[in-house]
Amino acid sequence: MEQANFWDERYDRYGHTGWSNQQLYDYDQKNRLNYFARFLSGLKCQQLLDIGCGTGDFIALLGQMFPQANIKGLDISPLTVQACADRFKHNQNIEIATADITQAQLGTDMYDLVVSMTVLQHITEIKTLSKVLLDIRKSLVTEGRFVFLENVYSKGENTDYLNRSFSRKDWISLCQDQGFIIEHSGPYPQWGVVLVEGLLSNLNYLKRLVKRMKASDNPQSSYASNQMAGSTGSGQLKKVLMKLMLSASAVLDRKLSVPVPRSLVRYELFVCRAVP
Ligand SMILES: C[S@@+](CC[C@H](N)C(=O)[O-])C[C@H]1O[C@@H](n2cnc3c(N)ncnc32)[C@H](O)[C@@H]1O
Repeated sequence: MEQANFWDERYDRYGHTGWSNQQLYDYDQKNRLNYFARFLSGLKCQQLLDIGCGTGDFIALLGQMFPQANIKGLDISPLTVQACADRFKHNQNIEIATADITQAQLGTDMYDLVVSMTVLQHITEIKTLSKVLLDIRKSLVTEGRFVFLENVYSKGENTDYLNRSFSRKDWISLCQDQGFIIEHSGPYPQWGVVLVEGLLSNLNYLKRLVKRMKASDNPQSSYASNQMAGSTGSGQLKKVLMKLMLSASAVLDRKLSVPVPRSLVRYELFVCRAVP
């Protein structure tokens, strides 16, 4: 229940379960869906599943791309599921349910396409994740696809909830071990997010520096720090800078799809094919 509460609270606070920074979320969510659409466009699907559907942005995209298909969305957060179900209450072919994917019964040969966007990265145990991947593979018909996007921070030993990280190679071998063929794996173009996060962490660093200087007894530092605080502390300035960076990055991210260098890659998209 701890996880469900975490996501409920997040939904309650932000109105969605994505980035806490609304500007970044608006930018990135649009990008991610655009990027996914490229890999789904050639597929023929009748039964679809979105794991960790959140408030349903991906389901809306699937509904547009596959208007004749039956689409199911699952999410662990009851509040988010309620919002998502309300959103699609007039769509007969869309069903939303509360379920923890680590315990859900997905069935066998049920779906032509299963998708998931930044959900499995929150499963912290390899054993559990492997079981989930096996369940997903079994739920797909032969030649069905599992298309997902996950965090690929460099490999670490941190097992805290939300902070467990797998490398690209880990994701690939985890999927292969459960009988998937990897058709594609590639970095998600994310210049906007990388640049803005760099900007924010520098601004935060400056803020902390200013605070420390203020705390010191040196009146000269104190004067300097006040000047700095004036120039860095403005939320408005931050927003304008972010807007500029995001607009500039949109060309690279959306139009040209140029990935950031491998060392800065945060997310990778995988297309996996189910074989018996
Ligand atoms: C970062 S959000 C992404 C939401 C959505 N996929 C999107 O991109 O808009 C992660 C979502 O996964 C859901 N989630 C986390 N752990 C889950 C689990 N074990 N089973 C089902 N859903 C889960 C959360 O409630 C949340 O809505």
